[in-house]
Amino acid sequence: MGGIVGYIGDKQAQPILLDCLVKLEYRGSDSCGIAVLDNSIDLYKDAVRVRELAKVAPQLSGTAGIGHTRLATHGEPSKANAHPHLDCSGNIAVIHNGVINNSQRLKQQLTAEGHHFVSETDTEVIPHLIEKYYDGNLEEAVEAALRDVDGSYAIIALTVGEPKLVTAKKDSPLIIGIGDRENFIASDVPAILDYTNRVIYLEDGDIGVITKDSMRISRGGTEVNRKQHLISWSVEEAQKAGYEHFMLKEIHEEPRVIRDTLVGWVSEDKPAVDLAVMRGGIESMLILACGTSYHAALIGKYVMEELLSIPVRAEFASEFNYYGQTLARTGAIAITQSGETADTLKAMKKLKDVGCQVLAITNVVGSAASRIADQTIYTRAGSEASVAATKSFMAQLMALYWLVMSYSKIDARRLADLIMELRQLPEKVQQVLDNETKILEYAKYVSRYECVFFIGRGINFPVALEGALKLKETSYIHAEGYAAGEMKHGPFALLGSDTPIVAIVAQDNTYEAMLTNIKEIKARGAPVIALAEEGDEAIGELADSIITLPRVDAIFSPVVNVVALQLLAYYTARQRGCPIDFPRNLAKSVTVE
Ligand code: G6P
Repeated sequence: MGGIVGYIGDKQAQPILLDCLVKLEYRGSDSCGIAVLDNSIDLYKDAVRVRELAKVAPQLSGTAGIGHTRLATHGEPSKANAHPHLDCSGNIAVIHNGVINNSQRLKQQLTAEGHHFVSETDTEVIPHLIEKYYDGNLEEAVEAALRDVDGSYAIIALTVGEPKLVTAKKDSPLIIGIGDRENFIASDVPAILDYTNRVIYLEDGDIGVITKDSMRISRGGTEVNRKQHLISWSVEEAQKAGYEHFMLKEIHEEPRVIRDTLVGWVSEDKPAVDLAVMRGGIESMLILACGTSYHAALIGKYVMEELLSIPVRAEFASEFNYYGQTLARTGAIAITQSGETADTLKAMKKLKDVGCQVLAITNVVGSAASRIADQTIYTRAGSEASVAATKSFMAQLMALYWLVMSYSKIDARRLADLIMELRQLPEKVQQVLDNETKILEYAKYVSRYECVFFIGRGINFPVALEGALKLKETSYIHAEGYAAGEMKHGPFALLGSDTPIVAIVAQDNTYEAMLTNIKEIKARGAPVIALAEEGDEAIGELADSIITLPRVDAIFSPVVNVVALQLLAYYTARQRGCPIDFPRNLAKSVTVE
């Protein structure tokens, strides 16, 4: 994991590389480094964040270079393990994002052939392989080296005497950015958006060569054409716009995200869509995802079962990849914000192999998920920088609601009512945001505890899971999401005055059962913060405190509830002084299994 960037042009490479690396840090960063090409390769790296490296790095002179942020997989974060890595001669430098599965065997072979390794990384075999095959042409040597490699990679290599960068990819994201007398390579668009908005997405197996005024992509020695995309995200969008953290800014963008994601989809009186995955005798649906996207998948399951009346399974992609499945007459949906999560991509490939139609729901145009899928629904959340997903989750929910409503055969009046409610959601979410100072007060309270339970039932059970995930990843409080009815089957043993419970109380068929669960919890001495709809008087008698939420149809209750829980997590983390946007040990995009 981590991010890579390359620059070649007329300007000094170092400041550009460091600037781009800062924007890649959200992909995970426990160390970083750069290498700049002049008459020799000058390299500087360390186990620090990019901004710290920028302060202490010596001036490396040259107009071509590569930069890397690393999130450790093989070997601890250290200066030696940080990228770039060099060959024996110090004339070839490589950065790599991904995992080389056969690195141990390659290391042994290369060591026997006289190569000397200085790090514990899997990556280091690549510059040595390139050195082994180098015969005056870097591109050919990279191609030969990669033939020996089994694994996933996005790499950039440079060598003394050849003013160019050579890049290649397999199962890791990689783009080329086209500038004016300068060209770029990066893991993603935001990294280089300050410099160019013209990008090319590389495919698995592509080898790219850029010089300051040329760009060539080939496969197996034959040149290929790849489409150039014009990116419309503004630079400001990728910045904080005055908010203290990206997470807060991104939560506040949710009303806009709902509008943008629905725009064009929901016509005057009905949603309109035609997707192969929903046609042709589909008898059940499988939704695959990881992390927060998995919670969207679970909510999608409830919505689909209610409005489409078909059985739906929502599964972790990482689990689905490792056990047998019955997939006959099953439609499949993969949800992935980044479109690059390794487990989700693997699951999609597995589905394609057995002939399933796969629909991707992703936020990133041209991402790997969209290229594997038969069809793609693009959410329009815009670039999300905070590691904790918020607005991208909201956009996923909108895509699922829209998709399901498009195919629902429910009573026309009920459908029209739902569409009307869907259109009102931006205002409802805004009302939750307007209540932020109250949530901040509850966050101060929550921040004093080390264990918090989130409970819900039905469609709000996944919201409880998401609330707990948000709290643990941002504030480092041990938080568990639980189906309210399951608390008595174990977690009750943990309850007491030091285990606050956040209870999501929806106005649906789970309401009475939730009240009973809250009474049981109160009887065991645990304080209860309830999320409840305005006008709910019964809850006032039971809970210690209440976060009041606007009235919505129960099927949309996850939308308002999750915003309140995102804010609760954010303010709790802020109260505890946590590095909210970049929590320890986590990455925005997990491109290894
Ligand atoms: C990482 C991120 C999460 C995200 C998950 C799945 O763990 O930190 O926020 O939910 O990956 O990512 P995806 O891009 O597939 O939605």
